[in-house]
Formats: sequence, C-alpha cells, structure tokens
Amino acid sequence: MTRATTRTAPGATPRRYLMCEPTFYTVSYEINPWMDRSRATDTQRAVDQWRRLRDVYLELGHTVDTIEPLAGLPDMVYAANGATVRGGVVYSARFRHPERQPEGPAYEKWFADHGFVTHTADEINEGEGDMLLVGDVLLAGCGFRTDRAAHAEAGRVLDVEVVGLELVDPHYYHLDTALAVLSSDPADPQVAYYPPAFSDASRAELERRFPDAVLATTTDAAGLGLNAVSDGENVVVAPAAVDLAEQLRLRGYRPVPVDTTELLKGGGGAKCCTLEIRSA
Ligand code: ARG
Repeated sequence: MTRATTRTAPGATPRRYLMCEPTFYTVSYEINPWMDRSRATDTQRAVDQWRRLRDVYLELGHTVDTIEPLAGLPDMVYAANGATVRGGVVYSARFRHPERQPEGPAYEKWFADHGFVTHTADEINEGEGDMLLVGDVLLAGCGFRTDRAAHAEAGRVLDVEVVGLELVDPHYYHLDTALAVLSSDPADPQVAYYPPAFSDASRAELERRFPDAVLATTTDAAGLGLNAVSDGENVVVAPAAVDLAEQLRLRGYRPVPVDTTELLKGGGGAKCCTLEIRSA
C-alpha cells in the first residue's frame, strides 16, 4: 500500500527509556493469543535479544535506565506496560490480569525512588501499552486491557487531551501492537497503524487526525512490526516488517531492524520492552 508522499521524518531527538532485563522470562500463563505454554521459551535468547535492543538505543545516543526484574513476574520485561510518563509526571499502571498485577506497584516504586511525582491509578490501565503520546494528544486504547474510565483519569493526571481508540482483534490487544508513533513533534505528528485492528469508528478517527499515516500491511502486523520505537528518525522495528520498513524509508525514516522473536512468544516486541520517560 505504498503511497507517494513528500513528508519527511522530523529528525532524531535523544530519549530516555526504562527497560527490564528478561532474567525471569518464560511463558507460564496465557493472556493473549501469542502466548502458548506448550511452546518452549529460551530465556538466554530473550536476554541476548533484549541486550541487543538496549545496545542499539545506546548506540543511537539514547539513555537507558533499568529496573530490577522480579522473580515470578515473567512479563515484567514488557516495560511499556509499567506506567505512562509525561512532563515528569507518572500515571501508574493497574493491570487487568492477576498474573501481572504486582508489576504496577513495582514500576511505580521505581519512579518514586528516582524522584518522580507518581499518581496511583484507580482505573485499570496497562501503561504505554495502551497510551501513546502523539504531539499534544494521548491516544488511548481500550477493548482488551485498559478500561475506558482510565482514559479520563490519564487525561486529568497527565493534563493532556485524550483520544480513545477501540481495539477489536485480540492479536492486537494493546494499542502499541497496532499503532506506532513515528513523530511526536506537535507541529508534525506522524503515526503508522494497522487498520483492521480498530473498530470502524476508531479507524475513521485515525483517518481524520492522521490523513498521511503509514498504513501497515498484514505482513507487518503479523510480526508485531507496529511495536516499533521511533526517535523521530531511527525506527527500531522487527525485521519481519518488510513493507513497513520500505514505507518508512520513503518518508525519510531509517528503519533499524532488531530481532525480538523470542519475546514475541509472550506477545511483545521492541516497543513493549521500552517505556519512554518524558521529562517534558
Ligand atoms: N504477555 C504480555 C501481556 O499479555 C505482553 C505485553 C506486551 N506489552 C505491550 N506493551 N504490548 O500482557
């Protein structure tokens, strides 16, 4: 679905990320369609892929903080779910599934210990997995994990306009599996998304707000290619997302392929492993 376009990437800006090494990674329960307990996981391979991802961020000039992994929380590697941070203010996560619930307080404690103002959520929300800042708005997913009531709570706590988006395909259960923020520049916000993952009304909303968005193909989506991390120029993306990479190049972005296939067994990719700490 390649379209000619004159738009170009706004340029890289240095980021600060929080990550959690997958020391205790495995698939011991199933809370999304990618997870299959009968399929073996290789923790060392997950650690190696995670370290490569961290090193790529460092090579790109970003800062990476790490949180201590906790035994018994195999999904803690998916740091994006840990909170949503804007202007140094932290809106904590409150997980839907009991298996992940202890992660919310663990991430909130990390932020409190590092001098951030934190707000404990009353409503169920899975952090940046479902809340993506694009320019001046917070795109907020619902349908599988985050409750709609959390959208309003996030808007209040983070002092931002919220646009709710409904997810309809269980494979794309978090917003960050169906939509990638390419540019968060308020003057030129840009996203890529997979249209079939959204309800008709949400698709219409995305078309209206982002008429020039990159539309991902089924191939891109199936390898969780939309679970990508952009710094405004470099886009860390699953190597399987070949159509997306081509479209990114056409718009002046630089795709940086990083293999996260071991972590895909838990239903996550690069973005899931990366929580952006925004001080502004
Ligand atoms: N196994 C985890 C879950 O189902 C994967 C989370 C992926 N994280 C994300 N930001 N999409 O909750």
